[in-house]
Amino acid sequence: MKRTLGVCYYPEHWPEDQWATDAAQMVASGLTWVRIGEFGWSRMEPSPETFTWDWLDRAVDVLGNAGLKIILGTPTATPPRWMIDKYPDMLAVDAEGRPRKFGSRRHYDFSHLGYREECKRIARLMGQRYSKNPHIAAWQIDNEYDCHDTTLSYSNAARRGFQDWLAQRYQSTDALNRAWGNVFWSMEYDSFDQIDLPNLTVTEPNHPHQLAFRRYSSDQVVAFNKVQADEIRKHSDAPLIHNYMGRITTFDHWKVGADLDIASWDSYPIGFLSDRLEGTPAFKQAFLRQGHPDNQAFHHDLYRAVGRGRMWVMEQQPGPVNWAPYNPAPLPGMARLWAWEAFAHGAETVCYFRWRQAPFAQEQMHAGLLRPDSAPAPALAEARQVADEIEALADVGTALAHAALVFDYESAWAWDAQPQGADFEMFRLAFAAYCAMRRAGLNIDILPPDTGDLSAYKLVMAPGIMTLSDPLRKALANFDGVALIGPRTDTKTDELSIPMPLGPNLPGSDIRVSLTESMPPDDAIGLRNGGQFVHWFEHLEGQTEVLELTASGHPAIMGTENLRYLAGWPDDETFDRIIAGLCAELDIQIHPLATGLRLRDTATHRFIFNYANYAQDWKNTTIPAAGVHWEPL
Ligand code: GAL
Repeated sequence: MKRTLGVCYYPEHWPEDQWATDAAQMVASGLTWVRIGEFGWSRMEPSPETFTWDWLDRAVDVLGNAGLKIILGTPTATPPRWMIDKYPDMLAVDAEGRPRKFGSRRHYDFSHLGYREECKRIARLMGQRYSKNPHIAAWQIDNEYDCHDTTLSYSNAARRGFQDWLAQRYQSTDALNRAWGNVFWSMEYDSFDQIDLPNLTVTEPNHPHQLAFRRYSSDQVVAFNKVQADEIRKHSDAPLIHNYMGRITTFDHWKVGADLDIASWDSYPIGFLSDRLEGTPAFKQAFLRQGHPDNQAFHHDLYRAVGRGRMWVMEQQPGPVNWAPYNPAPLPGMARLWAWEAFAHGAETVCYFRWRQAPFAQEQMHAGLLRPDSAPAPALAEARQVADEIEALADVGTALAHAALVFDYESAWAWDAQPQGADFEMFRLAFAAYCAMRRAGLNIDILPPDTGDLSAYKLVMAPGIMTLSDPLRKALANFDGVALIGPRTDTKTDELSIPMPLGPNLPGSDIRVSLTESMPPDDAIGLRNGGQFVHWFEHLEGQTEVLELTASGHPAIMGTENLRYLAGWPDDETFDRIIAGLCAELDIQIHPLATGLRLRDTATHRFIFNYANYAQDWKNTTIPAAGVHWEPL
């Protein structure tokens, strides 16, 4: 399959006589796709049941006739002002009990069934009107679920929905009281309508209460998405897509993804490094204009799996963004490097955000491919270069990975509710494991927690998985590579209490976590073979073989030949040592990489990315700063 490029465009922001010129210039720049519509509700239906589709019809015609394929977005992330008059209680409520106001976007509550019905209606109307239009080649549903912290709402609608959800899950309050351990502190209920949302309690709400609310809230995102997906599917065969974000764990992407055809995500590497990722000041300085060398790859691999093999980047950062604390420009070359990295990880399409920088409103300081005065911005030439390179390079395919990482959203909710150490967070732990494999130059697949087949892999990591699912437990029992699981894996029941016998309950071993410690940032547990555990350390007991010891003689890794339990959170160097050791045992060739160099093999080529701000050598080739090089395998 030939990879393609695209761009996000807002015809409603520009005079109509500019559309044809814009479209022609997009095509001339080598772009294939244009995404439109996702924030346009106030122009589609300016007042209830009054529709003004004519401008959108014409925009679709102009863009389509120029030769572009259109991704049409449902506008449900931006309900128009009249919607709030119709449903004043559709606004989400924050944990302090304050409604969030109109005046930006995503001002809706996933639990509000009236608003959900409105979304179904607009999706149906768009499906009916545009599905037979030959230019509409894909659909985007809503925009960035959870952006601006919008999954959780502490509204009346959420409380009522939660109570119904609880009644269905537990059937009786006795069962709920037992599952949650509500005898503790006299928290017992005798009817479901007594159960409030877990906010504004005097001290922390019970963990299973919090976990149940997180499960409920995630289910609302799944249901909200499915209502629209079902409507559009009645009319259209074009693929359905959502644009997920980086480091969002508040809803179960595996479940949303199951109702869609393609998983896309929005990649803003520089904004992310400054705002949303850990790193020392020196690390952040070194990658200030390039982004974290592993963050994009992690999300490509995650969403390739969420999309069951089909992944896009729906929004690619083209220049400075407007929303991070500091917004430097990318190094020349990065808009090209990021696109090639996405393709090497299996992206079918990369769309830049956005065509022209808007001179008005919230994102006026956010770069586009064109400046506000329509002159080319620096990323346009890089997009053009990528388009030419795609023409020259035949299909590169996606290679099989030998290494895999299991990633679970429910565990993220569990550890949010019960971190036990201020630095313990699911994404952070999984990302640390991922980065270590990637620094070794491995291709990595990310797997859902109910994976039942590991036969394609030699090395599997499953850190922080609250409870192993039955299929995964079975797959681990039959695995003939090495699975390194833990820390904190299979140490809780599904209701976030301590299992009896103590966890982990692993096939073929009797390892038990007898005591758990978390450590502040300047403390660590030294290891006899070198390196240290940070943040987290579990004391292990049992007759199973001890494979590695801490400096003070506690088990650091225990296990059998194929299934090993890691007692702590290794720092980066220690993770590197452990991964290198496992790969040597497993005959997996590693390529320990210099700072900022990253590898990805496809079916036909090896890609080498230089995230450093200086040139570096890969074997006999010098790769410039922010450069990418590929060679046939
Ligand atoms: C994304 C969003 C876009 C735009 C962009 C700016 O989160 O989907 O609409 O706001 O960020 O970086």
